[in-house]
Amino acid sequence: MPTHFSQPDSSLNTFAPRLLTWFETNGRHDLPWQQHQTDTPNPYIVWLSEVMLQQTQVTTVLPYFARFMKSFPTVQDLAAADWDTVAEHWAGLGYYARARNLHKGAKQLVDIINETGEFPQTLAGWEAISGVGPSTAGAIMAMGLHRYGVICDGNVKRVLTRWAAIDGDITKSATTKELWALAERLTPRESSGLFAQAMMDMGATLCTRSKPACLLCPLQDDCLAHAQGRETDYPVKAKKQPKPSKFSNALLIHSIEGDILWLQRPDNGIWGGLWSLPLQFVEKINGNASVKTTGKKQAANNGKQSNVPIDVRSNEKVYEAEFTTAEQIINEWLAKNNLVTETVSNSLLTDAPIKHSLTHFHWYLQPHSLTLDAKQTAEISKALQAADINIIWLNADEAQATLGLPRAMIKVLE
Ligand code: ADE
Ligand code: SF4
Repeated sequence: MPTHFSQPDSSLNTFAPRLLTWFETNGRHDLPWQQHQTDTPNPYIVWLSEVMLQQTQVTTVLPYFARFMKSFPTVQDLAAADWDTVAEHWAGLGYYARARNLHKGAKQLVDIINETGEFPQTLAGWEAISGVGPSTAGAIMAMGLHRYGVICDGNVKRVLTRWAAIDGDITKSATTKELWALAERLTPRESSGLFAQAMMDMGATLCTRSKPACLLCPLQDDCLAHAQGRETDYPVKAKKQPKPSKFSNALLIHSIEGDILWLQRPDNGIWGGLWSLPLQFVEKINGNASVKTTGKKQAANNGKQSNVPIDVRSNEKVYEAEFTTAEQIINEWLAKNNLVTETVSNSLLTDAPIKHSLTHFHWYLQPHSLTLDAKQTAEISKALQAADINIIWLNADEAQATLGLPRAMIKVLE
């Protein structure tokens, strides 16, 4: 099927040579994961770095990458590590699903290596690994195996929409298809690894989001957005809905020894598999706030009227995923023991001392401290363990040193 491009063949054919010439003298050649200057590339290094770089900038990734390589020099080391160690190495990089996928992916890769004697050698083979999408798989093929591979990540999309004045919404699949077809048309068969790295460098250093340096750009002569003086009108992207705001209490439940109760969160939902303080997500409804419980638990409670002193609503869609079984148990146990610190105010969002932004919402946190006696400490521990919930009592310093806490939890401790 012939594909129509807005650029003539002469421009399409010279794109790669121009870009590669620019890359040779102006690109980055000293990033620790780069494999273009070796004859024996290491796909593990490219896979690991590409996952880290998916949503995080180079300068942030550098120290994390170094620590990972020191602790897990091979994919076998990463696969054999326990999850807490991996989480601790990832703590602070954000988008924790990537860390879970990385750990799972390492195990998948080791299985494949044990079976076939080598890393996957095809695009489809890499796309089957957890957390590896088409662009990451293309990057690994091209840069990690020195085979043919095409990338079309956010940087590439920005460069190509500008150069070819593609004004379709890049969140739409028709536009994505068009961009992939163009990326394939432009990628040279013989040096797709260099080309991929050069495109990334172009996007990161020249064709930047808000101030592209067109005068230094090897594509400026035929860049259609530049000709129109409309560089920053591309890429066109549908306006995102503003993020919703949520509020939660973060409970610092102390034992008399000065330890704090930590919960390991379930694998799904926010911070899957990581340790956090018990949270009480609160929903603002018509100006009133209420601590959520789920319908399931209320059914289990049937007949027994629990004396939860905070308003409980049954509108459970909003926070169901975040309000875990563990937090239900804690919430009800606190209520039963009259340990609930205070009812929730109407000015939660403006009063909360900690604001933290996650992928899908802004989060306002209010720390609440309470101290249990020895009997209560044993009782709440028992209730949680009986429900198969992983808990640990550690003071703030120990927790920070050993648990790999998400950033918001460190803010609460501070
Ligand atoms: N972003 C994604 N992959 C990258 C790479 N290999 N080098 C620099 N930035 C990147
Ligand atoms: Fe980007 Fe400017 Fe180069 Fe066009 S000329 S690709 S807008 S840096």
